[in-house]
Amino acid sequence: MTTRVGPVSLPNPVMTASGTAGHGAELGAYLDLSQLGAVVVKSLSVEPWAGNPAPRLLPAAAGMLNSVGLQNPGIDAWLADDIPALASAGARVVVSVWGRSVGDYAEVGRRLTTALVRSRGPVVALEANISCPNVEDRERMFAHSTEATSAALSALAGAVAPLGLPIWAKLSPNVTDLVAIAGAALAGGAGGLTLVNTLMGLAIDPASGLPRLGGGGGGLSGPALHPIAVRAVYDCRQAFPSASIVGVGGVSGGYDAAELLSAGADAVQVGTASFVDPRAPLRVLAELTEWCAAEGFGSVAEVVGTSHRREATRTPNGQNEVARAGAAGKRAP
Ligand code: SIN
Repeated sequence: MTTRVGPVSLPNPVMTASGTAGHGAELGAYLDLSQLGAVVVKSLSVEPWAGNPAPRLLPAAAGMLNSVGLQNPGIDAWLADDIPALASAGARVVVSVWGRSVGDYAEVGRRLTTALVRSRGPVVALEANISCPNVEDRERMFAHSTEATSAALSALAGAVAPLGLPIWAKLSPNVTDLVAIAGAALAGGAGGLTLVNTLMGLAIDPASGLPRLGGGGGGLSGPALHPIAVRAVYDCRQAFPSASIVGVGGVSGGYDAAELLSAGADAVQVGTASFVDPRAPLRVLAELTEWCAAEGFGSVAEVVGTSHRREATRTPNGQNEVARAGAAGKRAP
């Protein structure tokens, strides 16, 4: 079940999704964090951030709306208080960071570099969260424009260059042309893409006319998001055959994970399912392992990008001729 996300080797392709497993080793109360591909921590900023007023979570028909508002203890406190517990749990850690300005991405990167330049400890990659819908000025979400995406990624990449860690840009599905934004992220210095963050949503109490979440609108995650994530991964894999891609969105079971891998993801993240069952990431891994064996796949690499290899063998009338063309672990060129 090993996989590679660019230069990062993981024992398996199942990680937690940022924001759904705490900042540190909180989920370790329910599962052995060392058994996951990696733990992606909730996004961290330069200064501590209080987040949005309650209520912050609301069940939706096929998932969940959240308006947490990026609450976090700040990068310095996280480095002091959380990283040791993650290291002792044997977790591989992906550090998610966010900022309100391009300068914030540079500064959070500088602080990470100062702390980790001698030893990266358990950190295997960084994730640049440029796509949270729960900030005060949604018009200025970085991942809504190619220029802002490129600027944020360049600032972070410049600051963390001495660490030699890849940066995965976490992008938003709330855009007309995701492939263009992904291209800007990769050109700006991202080594990979995390696809996708939540969709912007709103729940209203019809009697009062007031929003039901304290922050107003929220981000929709869970099963409703899954086909959107599959499409995002598929389109970006087709456009960028050699980019590292991590798929996230409504992964509730092994089949969902397999679908994202088939669309071209090198690994997946489990998020909203952990709110129902904190052991969900390991259950997804067990189900994915079983699925691979049942379907005759000998490795994760064989599953990654399967749908593109099938696409290449489509006949002119759109029929797939070969059941599992090119299942030798090679990507479509
Ligand atoms: C939040 O904290 O509001 C969610 C984070 C995100 O969607 O990126």
